[in-house]
Amino acid sequence: MPLVPSYIRNLANYKPGKPIEEVVREYGVERVIKLASNENSLGPSPKAVAAIEQALQSSHRYPDAFGFELRTKLAERFNVKLDNVVLGAGSEGIMSTIMRTFLLSDDELVSAANSFIGFRVLANASGRKVHWVPMKNYRYDLDAMANVINDYTKIIYIANPDNPMGTYATRNEFDDFYTQVPERALIILDEAYYEFSKENNDFPDSMSYRYDNVITLRTFSKAYGLAGTRIGYGFAHRELIGNLMKVKVPFEPSLLAQAAGLAALDDKEFLMQTLDLNKKGIGYLSDELRKLNVETVPSVTNFITTIWESEEKAIFISEALLKNGIIVRPLGSFGWPNCLRVSTGLESENEAFIDTLKTII
Ligand SMILES: Cc1ncc(COP(=O)(O)O)c(C=O)c1O
Repeated sequence: MPLVPSYIRNLANYKPGKPIEEVVREYGVERVIKLASNENSLGPSPKAVAAIEQALQSSHRYPDAFGFELRTKLAERFNVKLDNVVLGAGSEGIMSTIMRTFLLSDDELVSAANSFIGFRVLANASGRKVHWVPMKNYRYDLDAMANVINDYTKIIYIANPDNPMGTYATRNEFDDFYTQVPERALIILDEAYYEFSKENNDFPDSMSYRYDNVITLRTFSKAYGLAGTRIGYGFAHRELIGNLMKVKVPFEPSLLAQAAGLAALDDKEFLMQTLDLNKKGIGYLSDELRKLNVETVPSVTNFITTIWESEEKAIFISEALLKNGIIVRPLGSFGWPNCLRVSTGLESENEAFIDTLKTII
């Protein structure tokens, strides 16, 4: 098809975690436990659900294209100004706007190989040259990334913490890296798991230092349980945000998503419950996997990646779990064929996963 550029034709389709309905259909199981997509096992924030129900009554109206209320609330919460805040259909929506806003034809991108697949899709679809720098010990190798920065580097993407490894670049590491980045290059710090990782002392909360060329991305998808609602936000210098606001799809995010985000920010109880459950889940899963001699990567997120001796073994384990109605995420499409990622679930779900894994092993 000559109409389609080759870099689009050559893209692979995004493979999400297996949906529950598909597993019911294919494996004939009645109970399905989905630990595949780093979602919130408690469900959505109840305050957000109530707000969505109410907002439904106004859904014949277009949403506020300016996102005034939610941007104002986020600005107050994080101690910045309204014009430092942008909203999007998930943080991936904002990433997509960033690509369309800042890239000139010769610009290049830098990121880690085998990190967040959502960014990889957008970067490859941009048709620009991307330097995919191998990770080191399952972590971003910021020194190696600094070494590939050149006169054409425009966007540097760092998922901090990383998905799928759950590791993070420390404050010292990031500070050191930052000194090697020219001002004309934009650093995207994707903090989708910020709420889970912020209590680590050396985690570099990007809001505590606001550089002019850093964009922080955060989301309501994880800690607030709103993955299906598609609502994320970003913070940056007002000039960057001003340009993003010009390019973003005008009525993104939706009316329901904006209402949900506003209410979720007030749902402190739900957030506490989520963080508490996740902490216990990470502790339990790490301990039990260690007892089973399964190698894991220490994680500051709401998931743990397990490492198996081969791709065949990882696929065998994943399939055997599916037959028992448990969905985890094989990481072949991320570039880690011998790894499986498991998200924390409810206590009973975590236990069912471990019990089933024991019988399989
Ligand atoms: C690192 C990272 N960034 C962004 C996202 C997507 O967030 P959103 O749902 O806000 O688009 C995810 C979701 O898995 C993620 O792991």
